[in-house]
Amino acid sequence: MKKVLVVNGPNLNMLGRREPAIYGSDSLATIEARLKALTGELDVKLEFFQSNHEGAIIDAIHATFSNHDGIVINPGAFTHYSYAIRDALAAVRVPFVEIHISNVHAREAFRHTSVLAALAVGQISGLGVYGYELALRGLLRSLES
Ligand code: DQA
Repeated sequence: MKKVLVVNGPNLNMLGRREPAIYGSDSLATIEARLKALTGELDVKLEFFQSNHEGAIIDAIHATFSNHDGIVINPGAFTHYSYAIRDALAAVRVPFVEIHISNVHAREAFRHTSVLAALAVGQISGLGVYGYELALRGLLRSLES
C-alpha cells in the first residue's frame, strides 16, 4: 500500500472562510475527509499536514524521506518564491503533485510563477477543491508506472 503525505501551506487552514469567491466554501477538514474516504478504493494510506510556517513545512517534507511514496502539496503563496521548499522537495526526491484550488495563471502576475513545478510530477490549477482528488489520483497513477 502506498503512503502519501498531503501538505497544505499558509492560509489554507482558513479555507471555507477565506475569500470564498476564489477558494469556495469547503473547509480544509472537509477536503481531508473527502480524500480519506477514497483511501479504500485507491489502496493508499494518507497523512495530512498543514502549517503557516515555511520551516515547519520543510521539516514535514524532510520526514517523508524513505518514509512516504509521494506528496500532494498545495504550498499556498510559498509556491511563488520559496526556494527553501523547492530544495527540500529536491533533497528528499519524493514524487509530488502540486495543486492549486484557483487558476493561478488567471490571477495576479506574481502567481504565474511556481518555483516548485519543474520538479513536480504535475500541477493542477483552477479546478477548485476537486483538484486535491485529481492530484492524488494522478500521483498514484504515476507511481504505478
Ligand atoms: C493557492 C494559490 C496561491 O497563489 C495562494 O497564495 C494560495 C492558494 C490556491 O490553492 O489556489 O494561498 O495555492
